[in-house]
Amino acid sequence: MNADLLIHSAAQLCVIPGHAGGPQRGPRLGDLGLIADGAIAVAEGRIVAVGPSAEMRSQVTAKAEMDAAGRVVTPGFVDPHTHVVWAGDRAGEFELRLSGATYMQIMTTGGGIMSTVRATRAASLEQLMAETRPRLDRMLAHGTTTVEAKTGYGLTLGDELKQLEAIAHLNATHPIDLVPTFLAAHAVPDEFHEQPDAYVDLIVEEMLPAVARERLHRTPLFCDVFCEEGAFTLAQSRRILERAKALGFGLKIHADEFATLGGTALAVELGATSADHLVCTPPQEIALLGRSDTIAVALPGTPFGLGQSGYTPARALLEAGAALALATDCNPGTCWCESMPFILALACRALRLTPAQALAAATINAAYAVGLGDRIGSLEVGKQADILIHDVPDYRHLSYRFGTNPVAVVIKRGLVV
Ligand code: NIG
Ligand code: FE
Repeated sequence: MNADLLIHSAAQLCVIPGHAGGPQRGPRLGDLGLIADGAIAVAEGRIVAVGPSAEMRSQVTAKAEMDAAGRVVTPGFVDPHTHVVWAGDRAGEFELRLSGATYMQIMTTGGGIMSTVRATRAASLEQLMAETRPRLDRMLAHGTTTVEAKTGYGLTLGDELKQLEAIAHLNATHPIDLVPTFLAAHAVPDEFHEQPDAYVDLIVEEMLPAVARERLHRTPLFCDVFCEEGAFTLAQSRRILERAKALGFGLKIHADEFATLGGTALAVELGATSADHLVCTPPQEIALLGRSDTIAVALPGTPFGLGQSGYTPARALLEAGAALALATDCNPGTCWCESMPFILALACRALRLTPAQALAAATINAAYAVGLGDRIGSLEVGKQADILIHDVPDYRHLSYRFGTNPVAVVIKRGLVV
């Protein structure tokens, strides 16, 4: 067999297969499909063979060879929940929280999301991309090869389209693939302060149809809602998501981050691709999620970033049969984290995942959380060649160590970046 590139002599090659054409569900999470002394062959940006190095070296004729030299090879990380496109920062709020203010108090007194909205509205498209690009560079350096990116700091049709434009342009020009999510329902903007339902009308009647017209040729495209006290009620979330579904958007929801409003049950009812945060999800809704195809996305960086002690009940979700994924939630308010390896390390401690579970949650299951499980997230033959070589001798080190970057080589669509 001919190939463009053969990577060989990996101490461990982690294939991390999907299960029956889907994610790794419930307690079966953590199937790494480890190949000791493994090799992987790539042609035209796709994976064409994986197996033991000795076999592969006798069967594959490659234009280039790379010696993984006893290190660990995994799929690129997929980060399925970020707000990475923003302008400005909120370091001042971080300091305020340390002296006792809560995230919600800051939000209801004009800071929080609205403060980033003001900065993002004031930025030109070029400025917005110039601020976002270095974050994507750091994400890539930490092994993220696909990132979901939400709008939600524009909150007018024009400013939301500017964020979508930034996402589309960065997707075309940066090695990372960006999957867009429309999140006009991130906060009720100041101009609608007294009449939040009028803002929901605007989203449902004008913004969603306009975005669908502009963007639906690029698939997948998601719509998300921050279903939360101080943001959008369950009834408002339902209106927005039902309309989005009718217009062909995939669905996501921020549910149960601070308060329990029923967002998780709504996500299951509407067949959402994912329900995210899930910190205070009640047992009945954990059971519903566990029986559904909706991916449960845990974002442990957020409680960590807020200095809070409550985390997603990941073990209960797994016992209920849910497909669990991990993401950074990278945003300027609660969690400026660009590193999936840090999220793996945190998930093992705060969510009590095993290192193998954390790795599968950040790759194959995360790919399903952005609707791309058939194309990325594992090192199976036929998938896009998004591959990492980590400078560690064993995959458990990816979670065992933290605060330094284990990623030595990033390969995107078969090319070293
Ligand atoms: O996922 N919860 C809503 N959105 C973000 C926070 C965004 C912000 O504070 O700017 C989150 O935590
Ligand atoms: Fe978020």
